[in-house]
Amino acid sequence: MDKLLIRGGRPLRGEIRISGAKNAALPELCAALLTDEPVTLQNIPRLQDVATMLKLIRNMGAKAEFSNDGTVVIDSKELHFPEAPYEMVKTMRASVLALGPLLARFGEATVSLPGGCAIGARPVDQHIKGLQKMGAEIVIEHGYMIARLPAGQKRLKGAHIRTDMITVTGTENFMMAAALAEGETILENPAQEPEITDLGDMLNAMGAKVEGHGTGRIRIVGVEKLRGATHKVVADRIECGTFLCAVAATGGDVVLKDGRADHLGAVIDLLRAAGAEVEPRKDGIRVSADKRLEAQSFRTTEYPGFPTDMQAQFMALNCIAEGDSKITETIFENRFMHVSELMRMGARIDVDGKVAVTHGAEKLSGAMVMATDLRASASLVIAGLVADGETLVDRIYHLDRGYEQMENKLRVLGADIERVK
Ligand code: EPZ
Repeated sequence: MDKLLIRGGRPLRGEIRISGAKNAALPELCAALLTDEPVTLQNIPRLQDVATMLKLIRNMGAKAEFSNDGTVVIDSKELHFPEAPYEMVKTMRASVLALGPLLARFGEATVSLPGGCAIGARPVDQHIKGLQKMGAEIVIEHGYMIARLPAGQKRLKGAHIRTDMITVTGTENFMMAAALAEGETILENPAQEPEITDLGDMLNAMGAKVEGHGTGRIRIVGVEKLRGATHKVVADRIECGTFLCAVAATGGDVVLKDGRADHLGAVIDLLRAAGAEVEPRKDGIRVSADKRLEAQSFRTTEYPGFPTDMQAQFMALNCIAEGDSKITETIFENRFMHVSELMRMGARIDVDGKVAVTHGAEKLSGAMVMATDLRASASLVIAGLVADGETLVDRIYHLDRGYEQMENKLRVLGADIERVK
């Protein structure tokens, strides 16, 4: 089991490049299954979750070539096994994104239910309800969603879909299914994340008719067939936000190339309020801080609000900032598991249900800590970068799911960090 050994206290300086977005690459790899022509995706990050998705796609009988420059070519002409088996889905909930495309292209799909994960139950009931509204017959058997079209029906039908709560992958499943459905689909309360916008752009490059992606209403007019295309994956706003917090917390000065300030408004506003300098540039974002920051309160909400995927990272920053902060997590029911690990490093945090109150400490002390989920791992790395002494972060396979070579990027910026077995 790999660990990260960090000796804290060094400000981050220099320049790194932000990788392609995990949460855009995963749906877009599935969108490639909507056509029997080759699809080329550029700027795909080398992550464990991407490797899992490629394994899933190859297991279906499709070809997926990942070349060194981050380009993946998917050719699903020979796809003959429209299934996502449990042993793969249990490690990555995003496998549910295969459901819409397989159903739309092949009229059938068997996808394992994801099961819970560390941060919450994360059911897929909204995905099922929306696809049933488009005419799919979906039964749950032996832990699998078995989806079919009614006998004699060749295509899904467009529908008006309003979900009980905003769902990112639900929105993505509906967009992909609707692209090949008969007639018009309206998503009444879709997710508006930049990854949704990027998926819509890719679908349109394949010949789909998607409009309003990234706004509060998406309209898709189905077409008979989609063609191959080339699409560059948007930069990862959560990786970028994570590094913004790391640089601000360590008092450094860094340029994050390809970072999109327009995708991080809520996070950048809070960092500026805390006392960091954040300067959007045409080639990315420059971030610096030369004094102790002031803790900032926030609540996580759907985009364009403060992202839940940045909650743990900003909490780490608040723990060594001046003053108290009140953090409210409104999206997931159990996303404070980093709190007990941060407290081992001397952080002072009180949790009551969905609310965590931090009391800024002058310093944190390095300790052995354990990662519990992807973004919690990132918050422990940030804490380790500012703590006195050595921090050993265990179970960093969580980190490898969503961050491409994080320790190498941090070393380039001057951090004293190494991966140990
Ligand atoms: C996506 O997960 C992201 N993953 C998550 O990022 C992110 O935290 C989340 O959106 C919220 O922004 C990918 O894009 C691959 P949801 P998703 O459906 O789509 C409930 C990371 O760190 N819900 O928007 O699974 C759900 O339980 C990961 O990169 C239902 O009840 O999240 C949650 O409370 C973690 N039924 C809320 O809605 C459903 O059918 C939002 O979930 C669907 C969702």
